[in-house]
Amino acid sequence: MTDTQAYEKPLFFHLMQYARGAEGDVIDMVSGDPDWDAPPGIADGLREYATLGGADFQYPPSEGLADLRAEIAARQSVGSENVIVTNGAGEANYLAMAAALDRDAGDEVLLTDPVYPYYPGKVGLLGGESTYVPVDTDGSLDPSRVRERASDDMALIVTNSPNNPTGAVYDEETMRALVAIAEEHDALLMSDEVYSEFDFSGSFESALSIDSAHRVVTNSFSKSMGITGFRVGYGVFPDELVEKAKTRHMLVNVTGSRPAQYAVLRALRGTDETYYENTKEILAERVETFTEGLRRAGAEFTRPDGGFYVLARFPDFPGTMANAKRLIDEAGVAGSPGEIFGSARADWLRFALVTPKVEEAAERLTTFFE
Ligand SMILES: Cc1ncc(COP(=O)(O)O)c(C=O)c1O
Repeated sequence: MTDTQAYEKPLFFHLMQYARGAEGDVIDMVSGDPDWDAPPGIADGLREYATLGGADFQYPPSEGLADLRAEIAARQSVGSENVIVTNGAGEANYLAMAAALDRDAGDEVLLTDPVYPYYPGKVGLLGGESTYVPVDTDGSLDPSRVRERASDDMALIVTNSPNNPTGAVYDEETMRALVAIAEEHDALLMSDEVYSEFDFSGSFESALSIDSAHRVVTNSFSKSMGITGFRVGYGVFPDELVEKAKTRHMLVNVTGSRPAQYAVLRALRGTDETYYENTKEILAERVETFTEGLRRAGAEFTRPDGGFYVLARFPDFPGTMANAKRLIDEAGVAGSPGEIFGSARADWLRFALVTPKVEEAAERLTTFFE
C-alpha cells in the first residue's frame, strides 16, 4: 500500500467518530483541537468584519491580506514578500513539499519515525518517496543520523518542533545542523512550527533564525489561538521559491478566507503575551497531572518539552486501532493508536491534552489496567 492509499482511510476521523458514537461518557483525547478560548480579538475582529460588507466581502489578495502578511513578517523578522498566508499549516506544508519536489533536485523526502501522518500522505500525493530517520527514545533527532541517510536524491528534510507526537523540542544546534545538511545536498529543510507557542523547555529555535535559501518555515494560528476551524496559517519561503509557491496556492485555492484572516490580524495586534503564557501554564499543569496519573497506572510515558501530546505505553497493550477502540469502550478514554504515527511507536498510544478532564482520564486508565 502506498502512503497515499493508507491515508485514504482517514484514521483520525474514523476514531473520533467511533469515540463520539460510543456508549457512555468518553473523554476525547484523540484530536488536536484546542479546548481553550481564542483571544478576544478573534470575536471582536469577526464582529467588526460583519459590518464592513461591499469590497471587504470580496476576494482578498491571493497570497493573503497585505496587513496580515506584514504583521507576520515583522514578528518573524522576514520580508513580507516571502510570506504566503495559507489554509492552515496543512496547506503551507503541501506548498513547501511541492516546492522541494519541483526543484528537480531529487524525489526523496526524509521524515522522522514517529511521524505526523499527513506528511507521508502528502509526499505520496506529490509523487515523492518517503524515507524515515528514527528519533531517540526521548524524541530528539540526532542530525548525524540524518546525515547518514542523506543522499543526492534527497529533495527535502521535514521537521516538526515542538513535535507531534513525541513532544520533543529541537534546539538551535540541531536546527543549524539540519539546515546545513539540506544545503550540502542541495535539498530543502521544511520546519513545521505549529506548536511554537507551546515550548515548555525554553530551547525551541525557529529555523527562521538561520538565514538560508534552503529552508521553508510553516506555522499557523490554529493551535496558538485555538482556532483550528479558521484555517489561517502561513509559509515563509526563500526568494527563489516564493513566486512558484504563490502560483500553486492561487491555482489550487484562488485565495484563503478573508473574514478569518481579518479576525486573526485583529487578534495578533490586540493579544499580549499573557494570553499565550496562560495557555502554556494550563497545558503544563495538564502534563503534570496526566503524567502523574500515568505513573500511578503503571505506564511508561513521555513528558513533552513542547506541544500538547503525551505518548504512553501500557504493559501488553500495543498501540493498535483495536486497542484504541477497546479503551474507548471499556475505559471511557479515547487516544490515538501509535501505529498510525509510523513503526517506531507502534507499542504506544498518544493522548492529546485538549480536555480539562486529564486527571479523570488517568484514573479511568488506572482502573482499566489494574
Ligand atoms: C505537526 C502538525 N502540522 C500541521 C498541522 C495542521 O495545522 P493547521 O490546522 O494549521 O493546518 C497539525 C495539526 O494537528 C500538526 O499536528
